Amino acid sequence: MKILKTVSEVKEQVKTWRKEGLTIGLVPTMGWLHEGHLSLIKKARENNDRVVVSDFVNPMQFGPGEDFDSYPRDLNRDAGLCEKAGVDVIFAPEVSEMYPEGFCSYVDMNGLTGGLCGKSRPIHFRGVQTVVNKLFNIVTPDNAYFGEKDAQQLAVIKRMVVDLNMNVKINGCPIIREADGLAKSSRNSYLTPEERSLAPIINKAMTMGRQMIIDGERNSQKVIEAISEVILSVGVTKIDYVSIVDSLSLEPVETIEKDILCACAVYMGNSARLIDNFSLEI
Ligand code: PAJ
Repeated sequence: MKILKTVSEVKEQVKTWRKEGLTIGLVPTMGWLHEGHLSLIKKARENNDRVVVSDFVNPMQFGPGEDFDSYPRDLNRDAGLCEKAGVDVIFAPEVSEMYPEGFCSYVDMNGLTGGLCGKSRPIHFRGVQTVVNKLFNIVTPDNAYFGEKDAQQLAVIKRMVVDLNMNVKINGCPIIREADGLAKSSRNSYLTPEERSLAPIINKAMTMGRQMIIDGERNSQKVIEAISEVILSVGVTKIDYVSIVDSLSLEPVETIEKDILCACAVYMGNSARLIDNFSLEI
C-alpha cells in the first residue's frame, strides 16, 4: 500500500492502472477510520481492481466555530487499518495541496442543501461537493462509496453526479452501528463517558418513530414530536432538528404517503453534534 501526498503522484498512479485496464474504487474520508469507513472500503475492495481511500480533513466544509481544529487525526493509525483492509493507495494531501494560493472555484447546488443539516451548516455542502468533485477529477474512479449515515450528503453527491454528467457510479452503504445502536462516527470520540452512555437514546427514539410509521401513523408532526420527546427525556441533549422529508427532493412532508427519509441531528452536552436517520419505503 502506498501513501501519496500529492495530486500529481495520484494522477501518475491512476494513469498506470488505466493502461493496465484496471477499475478503480474511491472511498472519500476525513480519516479517524472506524468500522463505518471500513464497510465502505470492503465494498470497494470487492467490486474494483484497485482501491483508493482519501484521508483529508477538508477545511472548506467546516463553518466558523465548528470542529475543524479539534477533528481527530492520525494517519499512522488509519494507514494500519487501510493496509489490513487491502487498500492500494491512501491519498492524504496537505490543505495547501488541495487549496493552493489563488484557489477560488466551487461546486454548489440550489436544491437539497437548504434543509436538514444545511440549515445549521449553510456552507457545509458546498465544501463537500467541491472536495468530492476534486477527488473525482484526481482519481477518476469507476465507483465511489458513501455511507447512508450521511443521508443528505449521499443525496447531494448523487444529484451532483447526474446534474454534471460525471462518469462515476455512486454506491450508498448501510449505517454501521455500535452494539447499543449508536451510529459509528469519528465524532463519537468527543463524548464524555456520561454522554456516551446516553447517546444510544438517539437511535432508540428513531427506531420508535420508524415503528410508529410502520404501524400506520401518517402525520409527520406526530412522529417528530414523539421522537423529540424521547431524545430530550435524557436531559443532556439539545435537538438541532428532527425532520421527515421526501427521500428524493429532501423537502419536508406533512403527510407520509411516499418514500421518506427521517433524519435528526442532536447536540450531546457541549461536545458533539450527532446525526442519525432511517429511510422507509411507503
Ligand atoms: P467522513 O465523516 O470521514 O465519512 C466518510 C464516509 O464514511 C462517508 O461517506 C460517511 O457517510 C461514511 N460513514 C461514516 N460513518 C458511517 C457509519 N457509521 N456507517 C456507514 N458509513 C459511515 O463524510 C465525510 O467524511 C466527508 O464529508 C467527505 C465525503 C470525505 C468529504 O470531505
